[in-house]
Amino acid sequence: MDKLVIEGGARLKGEVTISGAKNAVLPILAASLLTDEPCVIKGVPNLRDTNSMLKILRALGKVAELDKGRVSICAGKTGNYIAEYKLVSTMRASFCVLGPLLGKLKKAKVSLPGGCVIGVRPVDLHLKGIKALGADISIDSGYVIAKTNKLKGAYVYLGGVYGSSVLATDNVMMAAVLANGKTVIESAACEPEVADLAEFLIKMGAKIKGHGTPVIEIEGVKHLHGATHSIIPDRIEAGTLILASLVTGGDILIKNVQYQHLGSLLDKLHEAGAQIERGDGSLRVKGNKRLKSVNITTLPYPGFPTDMQAQMMSLMSVTPGISVITEKIYPDRFMHVSELNRMGAHIQREGPHAIVEGVKILSGAPVMASDLRASACLVLAGLAARGKTSISRIYHLERGYENIEEKLINLGAKVWREKE
Ligand code: EPZ
Repeated sequence: MDKLVIEGGARLKGEVTISGAKNAVLPILAASLLTDEPCVIKGVPNLRDTNSMLKILRALGKVAELDKGRVSICAGKTGNYIAEYKLVSTMRASFCVLGPLLGKLKKAKVSLPGGCVIGVRPVDLHLKGIKALGADISIDSGYVIAKTNKLKGAYVYLGGVYGSSVLATDNVMMAAVLANGKTVIESAACEPEVADLAEFLIKMGAKIKGHGTPVIEIEGVKHLHGATHSIIPDRIEAGTLILASLVTGGDILIKNVQYQHLGSLLDKLHEAGAQIERGDGSLRVKGNKRLKSVNITTLPYPGFPTDMQAQMMSLMSVTPGISVITEKIYPDRFMHVSELNRMGAHIQREGPHAIVEGVKILSGAPVMASDLRASACLVLAGLAARGKTSISRIYHLERGYENIEEKLINLGAKVWREKE
């Protein structure tokens, strides 16, 4: 396994272009199971997770190739309805093949995804939704087995104890597009990635309204055809690079950004005193001002994204004052706290809160990545720290950030890879 080594202190300067959104690509690739016709998806980032989903599509009978950001899925039957444990366990998002398999084949056998370090990751809302559409569900030896003679449109309330569910909304939407009649999803997830999936489904011939709002209406159709679609930019990668400029005192022009997807983050950074200029599809981020600490509470979109919580903690670790960070989506999503403290941060965990007392500077240290966004947080901390930081298990980082080393080196960061 490789580790990433960072010599901290460089002020990042220059231009960087954001890749396509991982969390839009994954369900959109799964949606190709709903048709036997060819599909073309553009702006696809070359990530571990993208390639995991392509492996699953191939196991389900699709011929799918990724070449220079473009996925071509050939005409051909969705032949297999079983998504095996060995594939689903490598990436829990693959659970979103359940809805399209049920929609297209009227049956599906999908491994339960299991939990991960950020939380238990239940699927009760997914199952509630597809049951409401008329599927018979059973759980056997770690698999969800769903079958139906026909799916019937229904009213589904998808709010859970932690609010809406992104992939449950995706699964129910993909099962409902070929159901008989109208489906209404109440308390649907509003994330831009859910809206992007709906846009792709509409291009395939689906009838969907209200995507991006808490109420989505789907009128079932008989057949979906192939389509071509370009993925929206990755708002979490954009947010991570915005913080990279702020935490190093840099000056970065970030291109291919839809800043309307970054409302809550930009609002918080404005409150902290950050200087961020909006351009046409771009943002200019200057880290030349001392910021002040701010409090963060993660919420479903359009609230502050949980996927930016760890990265924001890095910035607050070196910002004067006290910042209270409250995690309301995954209350255990604090694996990065102990690693940041090893670098000299002053962070105390109190249940779903982390109290961060900003320090002057962090010191480089050997640290370990535990999950995708924790690894991004440690990269930011390493960039800001004095001395050398080595981050082990960087396969976590490779899941969600395309060519991140290259992007950082082009911005002047001193980053290289070493064997563990
Ligand atoms: C998506 O995961 C994202 N992944 C996650 O990003 C993101 O953190 C999460 O949404 C929240 O925004 C993809 O889109 C591939 P949820 P998802 O269902 O859909 C609870 C990253 O770093 N819940 O919206 O699996 C759940 O435990 C990843 O890119 C239930 O209770 O998340 C959580 O507390 C990490 N029952 C909350 O809802 C369910 O049936 C939100 O989870 C489903 C979820």
